[in-house]
Amino acid sequence: MSGEPQTAASDTSAGTEQNPYGGAAASGGPKRVRTRHFQNAKRDGIKITGLTSYDQLTARIFDEAGIDFLLVGDSAGNNVFGYETTLPVTVDELIPLTRAVAGAVKRAFVVADMPFGSYENGPEDALHTAVRFMKETGAHAVKLEGGERSQKQIRRIVGAGIPVMAHIGYTPQSEHGLGGHVIQGRGDEVKQLLADAKAVQDAGAFAVVLEMVPADAARQVTELLEIPTISVGAGPHTDGQLLVWTDWAGLTIGRVPKFVKQYADLSGILSAAAKEWRTDVESGVYPNSEHSYE
Ligand code: KIV
Repeated sequence: MSGEPQTAASDTSAGTEQNPYGGAAASGGPKRVRTRHFQNAKRDGIKITGLTSYDQLTARIFDEAGIDFLLVGDSAGNNVFGYETTLPVTVDELIPLTRAVAGAVKRAFVVADMPFGSYENGPEDALHTAVRFMKETGAHAVKLEGGERSQKQIRRIVGAGIPVMAHIGYTPQSEHGLGGHVIQGRGDEVKQLLADAKAVQDAGAFAVVLEMVPADAARQVTELLEIPTISVGAGPHTDGQLLVWTDWAGLTIGRVPKFVKQYADLSGILSAAAKEWRTDVESGVYPNSEHSYE
């Protein structure tokens, strides 16, 4: 949805948005991306862009770059907290990160990821978690994993007025049940993928993430659904693309997934800067009079 002239913000169908209760939205600035812009993007064939973000610095940069939505993913488990998987991540850990991201953006739509253990118990648990994210962080939607198995949870949350982004295909919170990082939806498995996609749409999800599924399976899901599909390693035939920002920017610890294209080498840049600074301090080059008070 980014780039002129075809951006979510350039959708004038809703006219100038007014906040009848005052506050930030009433004071102008870029037009906030809303769930209807996701739907319009699918209708108009405009690709939706998303990145993960876990802090206000990257959130501000990605927002200003016109990225349509920012996901405060439970991938923070790996990328912020240093866990091996996303399984140990808690709601209490994600809430401050989500608040930082939501507080930093003017245009981007912010999605809070519901961590493992915070919705599997049933619809009431799921709603409780979703309400916490909405009240305590300023996020605009929640995301949770699972197709048919999460249908009741999605319906309950959507019924309370909270937008839900669904997540099917490879679902990292089920890593052990799925037998590791395994591509989903190959061969006959596409039937289950299509059933999951239909289930989350019927439950009221406004968009669905397809993770690590073959491009042709993702194309079939995209053609079947009225809601937009967002690919994470699901090829080019979806309505949008999402990447974990640390992978995309060259900060990955370990192996970079095949589906990631690296757009920067931040690891190399930061490492070189740190070494140069250390050498400057050790040799007395830094600080000099330019960087000292009289
Ligand atoms: O937590 C995350 O970053 C995610 C994406 C990989 C979809 O769930």
